[in-house]
Amino acid sequence: MLRRIKGVRYLSSKYFPNEPTSPVVKTASVPGPKSKQINQELGQVYDNKATYFVTDYFNSYGNYISDADGNKLLDVFCQISSIPLGYNNPKLIEAAKSDEMIDAIVNRPALACFPSTNYAQILKDGLLAAAPPGMNKIWTSLCGSDANETAYKAAFMYQHSKIRGNKPFSEEELSSVMNNKAPGASEMTILSFEKGFHGRTFGSLSTTRSKAIHKLDIPAFDWPVAPFPKLQYPLEEFEQENRQEEQRCLNKLEEIIENAPKQIAALIVEPVQSEGGDNHASSEFFQGIRDITKKHNVLFIVDEVQTGVGASGKFWAHEHWNLTSPPDMVTFSKKFQAAGFYYSNPDLQPKDAYRQFNTWCGDPSKAILAKAIYQVIKQDGLVSKTANVGDYLYSGLQQLVNKSDKLKNLRGKNFGTFIAFDCVNADVRNKLLADCRLNGLNVGGCGESGVRLRPTLLFEQKHADLFLNILEKVL
Ligand SMILES: Cc1ncc(COP(=O)(O)O)c(C=O)c1O
Repeated sequence: MLRRIKGVRYLSSKYFPNEPTSPVVKTASVPGPKSKQINQELGQVYDNKATYFVTDYFNSYGNYISDADGNKLLDVFCQISSIPLGYNNPKLIEAAKSDEMIDAIVNRPALACFPSTNYAQILKDGLLAAAPPGMNKIWTSLCGSDANETAYKAAFMYQHSKIRGNKPFSEEELSSVMNNKAPGASEMTILSFEKGFHGRTFGSLSTTRSKAIHKLDIPAFDWPVAPFPKLQYPLEEFEQENRQEEQRCLNKLEEIIENAPKQIAALIVEPVQSEGGDNHASSEFFQGIRDITKKHNVLFIVDEVQTGVGASGKFWAHEHWNLTSPPDMVTFSKKFQAAGFYYSNPDLQPKDAYRQFNTWCGDPSKAILAKAIYQVIKQDGLVSKTANVGDYLYSGLQQLVNKSDKLKNLRGKNFGTFIAFDCVNADVRNKLLADCRLNGLNVGGCGESGVRLRPTLLFEQKHADLFLNILEKVL
């Protein structure tokens, strides 16, 4: 369908000289027979109900994921958006084989008590070198949910210590907290948005509002929720309606904060609500949130677990907003392999030890990988390359969406490869995803009927062409 622009040099070939030139599908179904058999064995000891197919990671390479049957699929889902530089990237293998890595793996430290001599340097050369503008401190944790959960704890402790001033904890606080009661146990809340997804541990799950199935049967905090704009597409046609919709949501947000029966310690929002359906909002909307949170002393947490690390065409998606002042905390995980949150205000660090704490407090081996990932991204200019290939991909998709009666609501213009569209209904979407796999393309869904693209940062024009051709064929 689309032609490759002549003279393009492919960086992915530098890392993956033997990357397949197109997908290979050998079986009549994906998952194929071997995949099904292994998955059935797995199912006897492990919950395998969400398995797409069983993967052969040894033979996955670059932008291609290999399954147990030897099929090689172009992967634009990438372990739920968490493979930054392709499978078996030689630079990451090099980092994995280093003495520094061996030390980090076989002597895993309890970081808060026995930090390693090189942890500060590992952070400075990697995770902190990549810190969002205005942020120079970090707390490391174990996964995206934990990153958010520790940010919430920082917010609660910060807000209470502001109220308490320099006074010590009261006797009443010390005794009531042992019964999970106020005033020792906080009655403050975290506000999140309808359709937001922030993880599945207890605290983070209470702020997750994507789908009921994510939350059912799990005890939850009674925390406030605000509406997130439902934009209409194409954006150029619905400018006024969308502006009004965003203003409606901002007005409602301020009303909720002003009338909250309990103090809202922090608000959390994703730059693009990913699991909830790839719902976008404008920079003005996010600036509006920043203004409201400042005015009402609510901490502003940006959840960049899925949007962070280059895919949006900026290193951090919230850099697209040009905020007048940075968020209070930015959480990360996925593509960085390591997890945690960035901040700058030292008061977000509790004054006493053992409050923001667990055994590992992160994982130096993942921080070493994050360093290698950051260095490749920086050295190869992968963020701007992703912005360019994203533009190319978007315009190709625009043509497909325009002529298809099955697709609508293309979104993610000027937002790197962080692109999504909807199908006319969930059945069409589910069939489309299955047919794509059978045609050698591994792509993920989100929300009710959305299809989201989450390729690597080494996904280039030749991969975009393959993607578009397969999608057109499947349609
Ligand atoms: C925006 C966002 N926040 C938090 C999480 C939770 O991360 P994890 O699954 O690593 O706990 C996810 C996971 O998909 C996410 O997309």
